[in-house]
Amino acid sequence: MGETVKKERHTKHVYRVLIILGLMTIVVFAVRYVLIPEGWGEYGNFRTGAVADMLEIEPVHGRWDGCKKCHPDQWEAVRTADHATLSCESCHEPLSFHVENGRRKTPMPTDRSYKLCARCHRRIQGRPEGFPQVKIDDHLEEMGGEFGPEVCLDCHASHAPLEGLR
Ligand code: HEC
Ligand code: HEC
Ligand code: HEC
Ligand code: HEC
Repeated sequence: MGETVKKERHTKHVYRVLIILGLMTIVVFAVRYVLIPEGWGEYGNFRTGAVADMLEIEPVHGRWDGCKKCHPDQWEAVRTADHATLSCESCHEPLSFHVENGRRKTPMPTDRSYKLCARCHRRIQGRPEGFPQVKIDDHLEEMGGEFGPEVCLDCHASHAPLEGLR
């Protein structure tokens, strides 16, 4: 008698394990079904629609000459002077904030503060030796400038900083 009871108990364990494994398998497939996006694995380990989705995102920045069409004078001034290698967007905001469908949508805020210039020209240990950089206090003292938030523009034109020093 005792032996039969033991046998029953063992098969119960096996059934429980099988049921749990079965449930786990169902959960795994259900989660996969919900989480894996359409097109995944069609051609490999990526989602087929991803490329089309990326193409639809509007670029934030313009091309290198994205401002030229509407601001030819500023373009000319920058390209023929010491800031020729800079993109307009390294000092101004990205094109897409300012222009939509080829027309101006919002004004372009202009940072006139000394911090704009200091970002690239403040003397810092790590900058390459040959790059033009100044210790701001010393520079102002030497040139006879009075510190204020827009002090650099008192003497330098932003687009052509060594031309027509004021
Ligand atoms: C080194 C930073 C810097 C770069 C690079 C730069 N700008 Fe400017 N820009 C300024 C600052 C600062 C002003 C505000 C000048 C002022 O008020 O005296 C300004 C003013 C302007 C203005 C207002 C009108 C004017 O001439 O003052 C326009 C338009 C403009 N920039 C367009 C451009 C375009 C287009 C480019 C690229 C070809 C460009 N900027 C590159 C810093 C820059
Ligand atoms: C589709 C034409 C167009 C393009 C492209 C364009 N702008 Fe403008 N922008 C304008 C117009 C229009 C004005 C207002 C009239 C003016 O000041 O000449 C203006 C004004 C400005 C001003 C003066 C501040 C203001 O908003 O009134 C700045 C600075 C400026 N733009 C910078 C830029 C920069 C930098 C780019 C490239 C990233 C750029 N713009 C690209 C049309 C354009
Ligand atoms: C995004 C970085 C950047 C910003 C912001 C910037 N500049 Fe420049 N500046 C440069 C680069 C790059 C050069 C060219 C350096 C070279 O020729 O080796 C340059 C050159 C110059 C020069 C000529 C130095 C020389 O001896 O040839 C002056 C002066 C100058 N900038 C002043 C300014 C002023 C003033 C401002 C703020 C209105 C400013 N810069 C903002 C990057 C910047
Ligand atoms: C009172 C006028 C004046 C003011 C204000 C001024 N500068 Fe200058 N800066 C000059 C003059 C003049 C030169 C040219 C010096 C030379 O050729 O030796 C110059 C040269 C420079 C140079 C080139 C240095 C080099 O070694 O090639 C940089 C960079 C510069 N200034 C950045 C700035 C910055 C950033 C500010 C704002 C914090 C500023 N300047 C404010 C007059 C001024």
